[in-house]
Parts: sequence; C-alpha cells; structure tokens
Amino acid sequence: MTTSRKDAARRIGLLTGGGDCPGLNAVIRAVTKDALGNGIEVVGIEDGFLGLIENRTRTLDAASVSNILHQGGTVLGSSNKANPAKFAVGMNDDGTPKLADMTDVCMKHIEELGLDALIVVGGDGTMTTAAPYCDRGVNCIGVPKTIDNDLWGSDLTFGFLTATQTATDALDRVRTTAASHHRAMVVEVMGRNAGWIALQAGVASGADIILVPEIEFDLDKIAETILHRREHGKKFSVICCSEGARPVGGKQFIERIDLTSPDPIRLGGVGKMVAGEVEKRTAIESRYVVLGHVQRGGTPTAADRVLATRFGHAAMELLRKGERNRLVVMQDYKLTHIGIQEAADKQRLIEPATDPLVAAARCIGTSFGD
Ligand code: F6P
Repeated sequence: MTTSRKDAARRIGLLTGGGDCPGLNAVIRAVTKDALGNGIEVVGIEDGFLGLIENRTRTLDAASVSNILHQGGTVLGSSNKANPAKFAVGMNDDGTPKLADMTDVCMKHIEELGLDALIVVGGDGTMTTAAPYCDRGVNCIGVPKTIDNDLWGSDLTFGFLTATQTATDALDRVRTTAASHHRAMVVEVMGRNAGWIALQAGVASGADIILVPEIEFDLDKIAETILHRREHGKKFSVICCSEGARPVGGKQFIERIDLTSPDPIRLGGVGKMVAGEVEKRTAIESRYVVLGHVQRGGTPTAADRVLATRFGHAAMELLRKGERNRLVVMQDYKLTHIGIQEAADKQRLIEPATDPLVAAARCIGTSFGD
C-alpha cells in the first residue's frame, strides 16, 4: 500500500472488540504511533462498543502506548457482549434480557467526540456490530483479530499463531505424561465452529487423533485407532480435540448460554465426553484437559507482534488513501483489503476435502476420527 494525503481524518476513535487475544496492544501501539506521527489525534474507546455506548474514552498519546508491544490482552479493555443495536438493559420476567437499540446514543457520542473515523479491531462479531455506523456515514476501518482464525476474507488473523503455540506447548507436555502412564489424553482447545487451532496445534505436536468441527467423528473409529496403536507397541495416544467437534449425527457440546451476548453459545465439554468413551471402549485409562482461556492470554509471539504492527499501519494507510469502510486482510501472504461488511456474519472454516494440511496430516497417519 502507498501513502497519499488526499483524505483528511484528523481525529480517530480506536476500539478493541470481542474476545481478547495476544497482539491487540501491538495494534493499539502501531495505530497510535502512526497516527500521532502524521498529525492525527487518537481517542481510545474503552471496552469495545460498550465504551461507545457509555461514552468512556481516553486520549491516547505516545506515553500511553509505550512499553505495551509485548503485553497480552488489551490496554483499552474489550467486551464480547456489547452490540449497541441489541444491548441488554435489564431482564424480562421470563429471564431473557431486555434489549434496546443504542445506535443513536453511539452516533451522538461519535459526533460529540468529533471522530472522523473509527478503527475497529475485532472478529466477525465486531465487524457485524460496525455495520450500522458505516451505513450512517461513519468511516469504519477494520483490523482482523481472533485466536480462532475464522474471520472471513483473511487467511490469517493476529492472535492465532500465539494461541496455536500455547496449545502446541500444552500438547507436548501432555504427551510426556501420557507416555509415562500409558494413557490416552484428550486436550480440548478453543476455536468455536472452526478447527484451525486444533488442526495446526495437532499437526505441530504430532497428535495421533485430531477432532475438528468440520469433520464429524466416530467414537468407534477413535477407539480402533488407539487400540491399533497399542497393538503396534504404542501404549499411549494424544487426541487434540476442538471445542466445536461433534460425533456423527450429534450436536456440539454447549457449556453455557449467555443471552446478553450477540453470540450466546459458549462451547465446551466434548473433551470430557471423548475421554470417557475412549476409556469405556478401549479399557485404556484416559484423562482430559481443557485449555480454555490460557490460549487467549500471555505474550504474543514475534510473528503476531509483527503481523499486528503491519495490520495497524495498513489500517492507517487506508485512512490516508481516503478509503472507506474497509477491512485489512491477509491473502496469499500479502496485505490487502475488502469491504468491512463482507466479513460480517460469516466464518472461515476448514474445507476438509481440499485443505492441504488435512491432506498432509492424513498422509502421515493422523486420524481425524472419521
Ligand atoms: O472467539 C474467541 C473465543 O476464545 C472462542 O475460541 C471461544 O469459544 C470463546 O471466545 C469463549 O468466549 P468467552 O471468553 O466469552 O468465554
């Protein structure tokens, strides 16, 4: 991307929305430093769109983004519950949330703050939430974030590589204890409806079985694989299981439903079920571990810091070029951009029949439980 000064954003808002992930602070730093260096003021909006509803903001200066590049989380805070168009303002008698449309309130705050544009750092939920503001003439520039790597239109989102490394480290650790005790060990990883973390961490750690939402699994086949390994002298097995994986014809395992959240389903529990069934079917002692939010926390890897910095700078370049309502994405290892609304309400899932990593894993003997 090249810089041209034809557009005149002088004051921008910056928010981080949805579930946090490693690398958010690197984006905040890159956007702020780039903006300040080009004479643009940055208003940090606290806790994602919640801060826009409640008018909680603070000016970001050089000092406020100093020494945060390596920090996990987001110094601005985030929320994966606050969609202003359907904001929970109380409870109905039947226990469901009373929803109100706060879009006008947010528009008023955007005008009072004098924002020429909004930089929204988030996943599909955040891009969906940004849509009404684009429609009302606010220039929203999106930066793709999520450990799940499921944002439509981008081959890679920052946060994913760090989460994958964390999951790989955990799988490596589980492997040694599985070997010592001749057990089957199931590690449940995050990812919602996308199996990218399970696939990548499973291959990286040499997991024997990888279960992803995109390929329904058969418990008898999983048991067969484990028994076959035992017959060939391999007394332990490691199963990397995505939280969204499900048995053939079965449903995903839901851990909780939060009706105040735009995406109310929280998955969880499949790892425990798989470990129990494996033990029943093979008589091999089995255990499970749920990695959970460990994958979202901690220091971003070097690759994620670099990617987040590039994404932040690219967002500022789009603003300077006078582009409107675009989302920075990575396609074929290059940064480019798509319409921000193209990514709304969609998920990028593994295509098992054509995915090269699924093919490679199968060829080296990894089972997908199918
Ligand atoms: O989208 C990121 C993610 O960590 C998913 O992998 C997971 O299913 C979900 O968020 C968990 O959400 P919460 O932080 O609300 O428990």
